[in-house]
Amino acid sequence: LFTGPVDFLKGVVAMDGLPPADRPEVCFAGRSNVGKSSLINALTGRRALARTSNTPGRTQEINFFTLGESHYLVDLPGYGFAKAPVPVVEKWQRLLRAYLAGRANLRRAFVLVDMRHGIKDVDHEIMTLLDKSAVTFQVVLTKSDKLGAAAQDKTLAQVRGALARHPAAFPELLVTSSEKRDGLDSLRAIIAGLG
Ligand code: GTP
Ligand code: MG
Repeated sequence: LFTGPVDFLKGVVAMDGLPPADRPEVCFAGRSNVGKSSLINALTGRRALARTSNTPGRTQEINFFTLGESHYLVDLPGYGFAKAPVPVVEKWQRLLRAYLAGRANLRRAFVLVDMRHGIKDVDHEIMTLLDKSAVTFQVVLTKSDKLGAAAQDKTLAQVRGALARHPAAFPELLVTSSEKRDGLDSLRAIIAGLG
């Protein structure tokens, strides 16, 4: 896994555009600008596979990538703040929720949380949806390069406390930096193990 070709398959704007649920799939969810697309690029070693930007709301479709023939990797639009007209944002949010609640082959959702910010109310909303849909989710802390060890420990404690109320939460937290390429091997191994 991750040694075979990683390719962009398609961008999806409505549930009827989803590819057939014929292989295991993992998705990357999180607030706008948390680093979802950057993490996919770092994981796959393809710098410009998923489009990234300083402007929150860069990813506006559900983007499917193929990992060889074995898995789909899914880059989701961010939730929370996005620089786009309200009706457009509402449309993505409906699609995002429908996808997270109804995708049969979704083995795990990685919920990305910026290490500087910790878990916010909008994260709890998404996690509650995942609880109700019985989709196991795992928190991936991002941008660890932006803070020191003590501040990282503080966020980890906040996140551990916040996850106690979510039955679908997988307890192991992952600390990553796409910039420094930290924590990526653990994440790759987890994805590979979700057959
Ligand atoms: P949306 O698609 O808008 O929801 O955003 P996203 O979650 O896909 O975020 P994206 O990957 O586009 O990254 C947002 C910004 O954060 C970009 O400016 C990235 O360069 C920056 N960024 C992402 N990961 C890291 C990281 O590990 N460290 C640092 N320092 N910056 C990062
Ligand atoms: Mg993105």
